[in-house]
Amino acid sequence: MDKLVRRNWIGLALGLAASALVQAGVVSVNLPGETAMLKPGPGLEVAQANCLICHSVDYIYMQPPLTEAQWRGVVMKMKKVMGAPIPDGDVDSVVRYLVWQNGRKE
Ligand code: HEC
Repeated sequence: MDKLVRRNWIGLALGLAASALVQAGVVSVNLPGETAMLKPGPGLEVAQANCLICHSVDYIYMQPPLTEAQWRGVVMKMKKVMGAPIPDGDVDSVVRYLVWQNGRKE
C-alpha cells in the first residue's frame, strides 16, 4: 500500500510540474497516459466498485490477455492476499467482466 500511495503522489507531483511548465510555455511534456477509466461492459459497476480501491485500472490493462481461470486467480489473490473486500457473490461478475475486457480462450 505505502509503495502504491507514494507512487501516486509522485505521479501527481510530476503531473503538476509538467502542467506548470507547459503553462509557462517552456516545454511540453508528454507523460505516458494512464488509462483513467475502466471500459464500459457488462459487470463494469462491480469491477469499478471492487478493483479501483487500491490501484489504477492500469493493473488490469497492463496484463497480457488472461484466461478465465487466470483472472479468477487474480481476483482471489486480490481478495485473499491483498484484502480486497469483494463480496463472494460479486466474484463471478468481476471475473466475467475482466475476461470480456482483457481475456483469451483457454
Ligand atoms: C485491497 C487493495 C486491492 C484491491 C481492492 C484490488 N487490488 Fe489488485 N493489487 C493490489 C496490490 C497491493 C497489488 C500489487 C501491487 C504492486 O506489486 O505494486 C495488486 C496488483 C494487481 C494486479 C497485477 C498483477 C498481480 O497479480 O500482482 C492486477 C492484475 C490486479 N491487482 C487486479 C485487480 C483486480 C481485477 C481487482 C478487483 C477484483 C483488484 N486488483 C483489487 C491491491 C488491491
